[in-house]
Amino acid sequence: MVFFFRTAALLLQLFLLSTPKTFAKVTSYTDDHLALLSIKAEFQPSNSFPSWNISDLHFCQWEGVTCGSSQDTAGRVTFLDLSNLGLTGTMSPDVGSLTFLRTLNLSHNNLKGHLPEELGRLSHLESLLLWQNSLEGRIPADLANCSNLLRLSLGSNKLTGEIPAELGTLRKLLVLSLHNNNISGSIPPSLGNLSSLIHLDLVRNQLSGTLPLSLGRLQRLKHISVTRNRLAGEIPSTIFNISSLSRLYLGYNFFSGVLPPDMGNTLVNLEVLQAFRNLLEGPIPISIANASKLREIVMPYNRLSGTLPGDIGKLTHLSSLSLRNNRLEARTAEDWEFLNSLAKCNSLQVLDLSYNKLELGVLPNSIIKLSTQLRLLGLAGNNIYGSIPADIGRSVNLGSYVSHRHHSFNYWHASKVPSYLVIE
Ligand SMILES: *[C@@H]1O[C@H](CO)[C@@H](O)[C@H](O)[C@H]1NC(C)=O
Ligand SMILES: *[C@@H]1O[C@H](CO)[C@@H](O)[C@H](O)[C@H]1NC(C)=O
Ligand SMILES: *[C@@H]1O[C@H](CO)[C@@H](O)[C@H](O)[C@H]1NC(C)=O
Ligand SMILES: *[C@@H]1O[C@H](CO)[C@@H](O)[C@H](O)[C@H]1NC(C)=O
Ligand SMILES: *[C@@H]1O[C@H](CO)[C@@H](O)[C@H](O)[C@H]1NC(C)=O
Ligand SMILES: *[C@@H]1O[C@H](CO)[C@@H](O)[C@H](O)[C@H]1NC(C)=O
Ligand SMILES: *[C@@H]1O[C@H](CO)[C@@H](O)[C@H](O)[C@H]1NC(C)=O
Repeated sequence: MVFFFRTAALLLQLFLLSTPKTFAKVTSYTDDHLALLSIKAEFQPSNSFPSWNISDLHFCQWEGVTCGSSQDTAGRVTFLDLSNLGLTGTMSPDVGSLTFLRTLNLSHNNLKGHLPEELGRLSHLESLLLWQNSLEGRIPADLANCSNLLRLSLGSNKLTGEIPAELGTLRKLLVLSLHNNNISGSIPPSLGNLSSLIHLDLVRNQLSGTLPLSLGRLQRLKHISVTRNRLAGEIPSTIFNISSLSRLYLGYNFFSGVLPPDMGNTLVNLEVLQAFRNLLEGPIPISIANASKLREIVMPYNRLSGTLPGDIGKLTHLSSLSLRNNRLEARTAEDWEFLNSLAKCNSLQVLDLSYNKLELGVLPNSIIKLSTQLRLLGLAGNNIYGSIPADIGRSVNLGSYVSHRHHSFNYWHASKVPSYLVIE
């Protein structure tokens, strides 16, 4: 009803505004034409799109507007891209009249107000791209009516409330991106029904509860990021069964429990494992050396214990092994075998094992053989005594000790060396 009145009012307004000349040229106002004018009317500054005017130019030729070319869609808006125009104002509910819309891109503006639930009328919509605005309020459950949606991108707004469980019915959805909002509540188990999903990004929200077991059903997922939330409990073992998974970002939460011993054999496509600042305990699974695509293992500030896998150097693509502030041990030559093994990682740039329980009388010469790419070697806060092998500078391009970032020193005998050797 409200919708009807808005449209009617606008029509009247247009009628009054139009000179007889312009009105004569525009033979009829379709719903799409009116909806576009209504959308424009709620944006500021509306002069950001000058070609949108009551003139001879058909609205299908307006800047940012594309109409369909098939018999069904001719004269209907299928693509609306008003991204990156510095727009403020709100989203008109009349957007719900553009029922043939496939892409709505209003990203990178400064739009305020709520997401109109009328978006749920857009049954052909494939991409709803509203990231980087100042949109507020809840995500309307009506979006679940957009059953053809492939990409839902609402990141970097000020959205609140919970993720509507109804979104789990979007069977075609490939990308769900809600990062940098203020979304709370738990992750609905229904998301495990998004059987096409490839990319799930929930970074920087206020989500609590656990990761739903049901996510393990998403056998096409490549990217899960839930960094900086308040998620807790064990990481469901089902997640470690998603063989397609390539990037797993779990940092800054309260995840606890141990990593499954078999994870390196099941996550065969894993490239990035980030789980810093959680409560993870137990050993780093030996099988991790089998996840041959791994580039980053970033799990500082946890409670990991045990020794490092002796053949970790099988991960030849490894560029970052960051395990600072854990409870990892190494005493015997066998325990230290990982260091020899890491010599095979020609791309290694960061090796940070500081603040663990590594013990050694003399730092082994194998440290000399580490990658020439190495730019950060952290061994502070362990029990390593001895001098730096004389050749380390030449071998790993050690220029000068640039940084004293943490002002704590390792227990070097020969020379006082900063805890972080920043090697350039
Ligand atoms: C159409 O554009 C012209 C020139 O930019 C402007 O003067 C006029 O006010 C516009 N008309 C409407 C109805 O926006
Ligand atoms: C949407 O807008 C953004 C920002 O201008 C742009 O990078 C992106 O390619 C657009 N995507 C589509 C599908 O129009
Ligand atoms: C979405 O679907 C529900 C259930 O069919 C319906 O009640 C609701 O009105 C629809 N929303 C829109 C905006 O069409
Ligand atoms: C998120 O909500 C909290 C209170 O619930 C508020 O303090 C904070 O400023 C909000 N953050 C953003 C980015 O809106
Ligand atoms: C997932 O979909 C099935 C089949 O439609 C339904 O029975 C089930 O309740 C859904 N699961 C959740 C958690 O919504
Ligand atoms: C992982 O997948 C295998 C084979 O598909 C299955 O047998 C096993 O039960 C699954 N484990 C979990 C924890 O889902
Ligand atoms: C690593 O993979 C090989 C070959 O598939 C397998 O034999 C071995 O048991 C795996 N290692 C671990 C620790 O699971």
